[in-house]
Amino acid sequence: MLKTTSRGLRRAIVPLLLASAACDAAVDHAAGVATMKRESFGTTPSGEAVDLVTLTNAHGVELRAMTYGAIIVSLKVPDRAGQLGDVVLGYDSLAGYVKSSPYFGAIVGRYGNRIAKGKFTLDGADYTLAVNNGPNALHGGLTGFDKVVWSADTMRTAEGVGIQFRYVSKDGEEGYPGTLTATVTYTLADASEVHIGYEATTDKATPLNLTQHSYFNLAGQGDIMSHVLTLNADRFTPVDATLIPTGELALVAGTPFDFTSPHAIGDRINADHPQIAFGGGYDHNFVLTRADTGLTLAAVLKEPTSGRVLEVRTTEPGVQFYSGNFLDGTLTGKGGVVYAHRTGLCLETQHYPDSPNQKTFPSTILRPGETYRSRTVWRFGVE
Ligand code: BGC
Repeated sequence: MLKTTSRGLRRAIVPLLLASAACDAAVDHAAGVATMKRESFGTTPSGEAVDLVTLTNAHGVELRAMTYGAIIVSLKVPDRAGQLGDVVLGYDSLAGYVKSSPYFGAIVGRYGNRIAKGKFTLDGADYTLAVNNGPNALHGGLTGFDKVVWSADTMRTAEGVGIQFRYVSKDGEEGYPGTLTATVTYTLADASEVHIGYEATTDKATPLNLTQHSYFNLAGQGDIMSHVLTLNADRFTPVDATLIPTGELALVAGTPFDFTSPHAIGDRINADHPQIAFGGGYDHNFVLTRADTGLTLAAVLKEPTSGRVLEVRTTEPGVQFYSGNFLDGTLTGKGGVVYAHRTGLCLETQHYPDSPNQKTFPSTILRPGETYRSRTVWRFGVE
């Protein structure tokens, strides 16, 4: 597990945590000042109040996130004509997310991705998790971090305006050992960047693999087949029919998984390849070719019509590229748009799937006394 990333940077930035209420709402971003606004976004069926925070940078880029699941509800960035458009899938209201969501915009935890048969052994003890995806455990269980209400503070740092979410997961929650205290920070920088910072501590050893599960569509509509993707990965982790890694780190060269140079996603997504068949398209962890232990370029995504470009950098060793294969037109999202097959894609920066059961993969075990630290940056631009 990568535990040191940006400590120096963190020390240099002393976050000024501000009290919750509509802090800077009066300040106008048109005047070139980033703003933050906090308001109610409804109540969960169990009666918990949910807030929505709107961050706007000096150029009008806007991120809205709520305390339920620390979900990014919308993210508006300019196209090449300067027109702002929402580039993430989701719902207009809290009720949509509560009713049924394939992790739209959410923080996934404790363990993003699959754990084989919902079982792992840690320090000689056997643990059993809920099996919620075929024979396996997926994305933290029945009530993962995407379905709980986080506390939140808005903040202004040297990087920009942000939200710091906090959640304390109880010992034994969803079958995981230890009381885990997690913070996730979204900072919207004036340079059209979203910085996602994760920190966590525990009082018992536990697997931990946090990720952000936004579904991107840089055109704001239609399918994502003509989005052009580059992945900084010479290898990926092939899976079995239930999407559990075989343990191999296979070379991508000569396969439809070679995104080391830019390719339209649709070019090879229906190729006759056993891994494509298992995933129903792309649903695989790519092993990042790392320059060092700091932020490394993971992915570049370009949408030719709008000109929008997204660069993803991370301290994590992998990225799950999921091409929205399970979207099937049964969910109706923001503005009444039906989310048809492959109308959004995820680039989930993370450790490899099933690491607790895979001895050769980088460890995902967090122990008492250690601090989990992870960082991902999304940089938006146009071309
Ligand atoms: C997984 C997919 C899954 C999706 C939504 C992705 O992270 O890799 O297999 O369908 O999340 O649950």
